[in-house]
Amino acid sequence: MDKIIVLDFGSQYSHLICRRIREFSVYAELVPYDISYEEIQKMNPKGVIFSGGPSSVYSDDAPNPENKIFEMNLPLLGICYGHQLIVNKFGGKVKRANKEYGSSVLTIDNDKDLLSDLGESLRAWMSHGDEAEEIPPGFKIIGHTEGAKAAAIASEEKKVFGIQFHPEVVHTELGTEILKNFVLKVCGAKQEWTMEGFIDSSVEKISKIEGNVLCGVSGGIDSTVAALLIHKAIGDRLKCVFVNNGLLRWNEEKEIEEMFKENFKVNFNSIDASQEFLSKLKGVEDPEDKRKIVGEEFVRVFTNFAESNGPFKWLAQGTLYPDVIESGVSKGPAAVIKSHHNVGGLPEWLDLEILEPLRELYKDEVRKIAKILGVPEKLLMRHPFPGPGLSVRIIGEVTDTKLMIAKKASKIVEEELMNGGIYEKVWQAYAAVGDDRAVGVVGDERRYGNIVMIRVVDSIDAMTADWTRLPHGILEKMSNRITNEIEDVTWVTYTISSKPPATIEPQ
Ligand code: XMP
Repeated sequence: MDKIIVLDFGSQYSHLICRRIREFSVYAELVPYDISYEEIQKMNPKGVIFSGGPSSVYSDDAPNPENKIFEMNLPLLGICYGHQLIVNKFGGKVKRANKEYGSSVLTIDNDKDLLSDLGESLRAWMSHGDEAEEIPPGFKIIGHTEGAKAAAIASEEKKVFGIQFHPEVVHTELGTEILKNFVLKVCGAKQEWTMEGFIDSSVEKISKIEGNVLCGVSGGIDSTVAALLIHKAIGDRLKCVFVNNGLLRWNEEKEIEEMFKENFKVNFNSIDASQEFLSKLKGVEDPEDKRKIVGEEFVRVFTNFAESNGPFKWLAQGTLYPDVIESGVSKGPAAVIKSHHNVGGLPEWLDLEILEPLRELYKDEVRKIAKILGVPEKLLMRHPFPGPGLSVRIIGEVTDTKLMIAKKASKIVEEELMNGGIYEKVWQAYAAVGDDRAVGVVGDERRYGNIVMIRVVDSIDAMTADWTRLPHGILEKMSNRITNEIEDVTWVTYTISSKPPATIEPQ
């Protein structure tokens, strides 16, 4: 398959370059900037992109790729820091300039190749401190902004391009078209990266493995899709384990079992360990202690299953591409399978190798595969849910009453967001409960009941979050239903803390 390699110089947008390119069906892979020339040759790309990065090409610790990479006779595109690298390496000059952040108008001076079919000008997103003062011999300026006279340069002969702005961010108009011009027109890459193709090739690869595969499934999209792909390849040699820890959302254990057993005919083993989990959590109030207990109990249940249903050779995990990159163990596209032992707290004697069928994929690609494989819409759009489940949404000790309140109230919150057409627009939504109580009147009677905290947040990656400005009508419905339908609740509050300083979960 034709591919483009993106050398990562540390810009926060590096991943986005790959994602944008994959969105128009060409495979793109992010690699560290110090990848060797030989490794690049082995990968046989149709073109190479240098990402942006926080450094200045003149600083002592400026990241520098191997010189031979500039002489590969492959089309090159430098973005921001990558642009300055190209200017510098091909004999031009970079100078310190006034920092330029935000949107500028790029005037197109030469509408061939990279900047073809884009009109006369466009809004481009700049974020740089250095700029090209002198362009290298053999290059010409193909676009400029008010602040940067050489905002886009090209050597048509060498097929080398540099742009000072970021085409990968949505604030750059026609940014995808610029990447398309480079990838499709300049590099001539074919649009062969489709999720249907990915399913076929991974099923083929996985079908060659020997031995049984164990896969822990949570009902989340990543573990579900990993399990379905493996099941397509090896059928009942895959055994899925779902642990009901008693801390799940309303009816969740039934819905997940139904999906796996009825829709997909997967060898699905649901272990009801709720009593064990809840009895271990009795009397425990500290948030970290609760997390630790849930984690240890999970490993114990999982290990017991593996021991009595084995032997297993493989442990399947739904690891995604950004996790692979972050952990620094990227081994390229062939590495669907990696050898590793003693993961996630599982004992070494289980001697499991790791199978990670999604390690080349971004989340949106996993969603596409889920759709193709027929995963129900309801699961596709479900919000993320923390591993320790409701134990982190119940402040203080997990008691039966608080568990029941958290489940019922969260169900109401979700239902009302769905009724209002807002559920899919927010990052997470639930109702938490603690030990605080408040007086209410029900009929003519005084009642001393629990206080429920509704939490709805907007976020892009859970690193930061803002509380959602919900319409008052929706809040009113939630509040009325919670106090009417859950006898133990007298007061409903809405949390208006963002992250930071708060976190998304209360514990
Ligand atoms: P916080 O509360 O730290 O949460 O702002 C950030 C995101 O992570 C989720 N979360 C977890 N996910 N295991 C998980 O798998 C955990 O222990 C855990 N704790 C928090 C949380 O739901 C939010 O999306």
